[in-house]
Amino acid sequence: MTTWLRHPFNIGKLLIFGVLLLLTTAASAAAAEEPVLNIYTARHYQSDDEIYAAFTRETGIVINRIEDKEDALIERIRNEGENSPADIFITADAGRLWRAEDAGILRPVDSALLNDRVPVSLRDPQGYWFGFSMRARVIFYSKAEVEPGAVTSYEDLADPKWKGKVCVRSGSNVYNLSLLGSIIEESGEETAEKWAQGVASNLAREPQGGDTDQIKAVAAGECQLAIANTYYYVRLLKSDDAADRAVAEKVGVIFPNQADRGTHVNISGAGVAIHAPHPENAIRFLEFLASDEAQRDFAIGNNEYPVVDITFDNPELKSLGEFKKDPVNVGTYGENQAAAQAIYDRVGWK
Ligand SMILES: [Fe+2]
Repeated sequence: MTTWLRHPFNIGKLLIFGVLLLLTTAASAAAAEEPVLNIYTARHYQSDDEIYAAFTRETGIVINRIEDKEDALIERIRNEGENSPADIFITADAGRLWRAEDAGILRPVDSALLNDRVPVSLRDPQGYWFGFSMRARVIFYSKAEVEPGAVTSYEDLADPKWKGKVCVRSGSNVYNLSLLGSIIEESGEETAEKWAQGVASNLAREPQGGDTDQIKAVAAGECQLAIANTYYYVRLLKSDDAADRAVAEKVGVIFPNQADRGTHVNISGAGVAIHAPHPENAIRFLEFLASDEAQRDFAIGNNEYPVVDITFDNPELKSLGEFKKDPVNVGTYGENQAAAQAIYDRVGWK
């Protein structure tokens, strides 16, 4: 202080600096968004609550949440138009994120942090959406009936030797549309249709139920092979119900196509809504989802794989082992979705 007093020139500088500081603060206060974020989400996992709470703790931004099925949310954002309070849209499956992008309810985001942390195959090339957790769609087999190594690829499921032995859910389910979309991308529509035809003729029963039901049907001896996402199996492994754990005990996991393109993976992801009233908060939220902390919560809470390479503690998930994933951009599943649905319809995979 005394030094400044002895040098009037510095006091003048200090005053100018002070005025500038006041002006800057006033300007940024005017530009700053209210600390609110409106999330429209089709995910309904408890673990997401913890991630939202952690975001609010860190940023002071209060989250309002609207939950519904993805198609209803997309429709709602469209109908709300420019007045939509939606800042963020969240859903599982790249095929659905692509639908949202296609419906024009998202805006592109250019974030160096997101581009750096989220692998290029797990986000939209134009930044309309980003994957924040990853799941693999794998083959489950009856340990009692199927020899290890008898099935190593999705293509094997179409082999006539498995006639009457395969369980899978509906062809109009987005997980299966995305799987077929990836096969179309890899091998073309003709080969993809032959595959779908082959699997459809190997079904043990009409497609019914969700992924967990297919795993349970294998354990019950209704079929020997099934297609389902990894986290459903891990959920059974970790269940408090001994009957669930017994199901998991009878069923083994095959990561398909390890010798060639790798296992089909998908994402849960999010994008910023087209008319987001709080776009800065929205990007901050997306960046938070890519943080080590949120990535760990995804991996532990819903038994999904983090998209960022982090260490995490989930022994049951890790017990499935490491695998090579198909490096194709998950956005291609959406681009091939209509073709995939047409194929399932043609081959009678209902
Ligand atoms: Fe699911």
